[in-house]
Amino acid sequence: MDQAEQLRNIIKNNTACRGQTSDVNLSPPGKIARVITVTSGKGGVGKSNISVNLGIQMSRIGKRVIILDADFGLANVEVMLGIRPQFNLADLMFRGKGLRDIITKGPENIGFISGGSGISELTNITRSQIAFLTQKLDELDEIADVIIIDTGAGITDSVLEFVTASSEVLLVATPEPTSITDAYALLKTLNRKVDFSTEATVIKMIANRVDSYEEARQLYMKLNLVVEKFLTVRMDFLGAIPQDLNVSKAVMQQKPYSILYPNAPSSKAVFELAGILCNHAPQRAYAVSGIAGLFSNLLRLKLKK
Ligand SMILES: Nc1ncnc2c1ncn2[C@@H]1O[C@H](COP(=O)(O)OP(=O)(O)O)[C@@H](O)[C@H]1O
Ligand SMILES: [Mg+2]
Repeated sequence: MDQAEQLRNIIKNNTACRGQTSDVNLSPPGKIARVITVTSGKGGVGKSNISVNLGIQMSRIGKRVIILDADFGLANVEVMLGIRPQFNLADLMFRGKGLRDIITKGPENIGFISGGSGISELTNITRSQIAFLTQKLDELDEIADVIIIDTGAGITDSVLEFVTASSEVLLVATPEPTSITDAYALLKTLNRKVDFSTEATVIKMIANRVDSYEEARQLYMKLNLVVEKFLTVRMDFLGAIPQDLNVSKAVMQQKPYSILYPNAPSSKAVFELAGILCNHAPQRAYAVSGIAGLFSNLLRLKLKK
């Protein structure tokens, strides 16, 4: 059976099977924020909703959370939170703003940084700017416990670079056929990248918009079967978020569903995911980089080009 055929089978075939959660459990060392990068193969699968609501739930657990919107084209998170940040990452990089100037206060104590044009401007950055940026971002590691990066959609260079530079990646997929094939395409592209390392980057899949937890586990197991057969990248299962009308209702009101509808199935599910993530911090080897480390990785990759 070839890859395409196996993928078709995942989409067609819905039989029960078990998922596997990540079993890593060492806490990251002090003063280095845990960086969680949220990505997907295809757009519109729920990344921004997951980033924001996961952030809120982690904040409720007592973590200091900052969300970085790296989807500069769409400024997604701003729209979802109904806030308009005055400054963005580019103001920090090139226009003399301090780190605290570019952090906008969001609901429930979460902080928010808009990538703005800063993400695309990273392409043309010089060595001295890198040193400057890394130093500025060091501060961020001190004021946040968790930094959630909401990446743009699709298998673009910028998304791939963020993923490659990250130690912990949440891959969001839905049962929709194109979401599954695009998630696989993303993993396949990563697999080919010489800079990507399975030891340095842990990928955890979230199945969004599922009808049952079983459906989520099936989705993971079937996709993982193809991944294990054809690729060397590793993908763990994190959990599921159900299909829930409250999500789009909340999006319409520009407020996160975990605030508007705290007892909705989606809110409970994302609270559970936050708990799992907080109880299973990555191993030291994965966690040492923090946000400054992530950006220096990112920029090192760019300089190599
Ligand atoms: N669990 C869910 N249940 C129902 N609808 C959802 C769910 N997650 C996402 N959606 C719908 O998908 C849309 C896109 O979500 P979004 O988080 O903006 O995706 P992305 O950031 O991946 O482009 C939302 O506006 C919402 O209508
Ligand atoms: Mg988005």
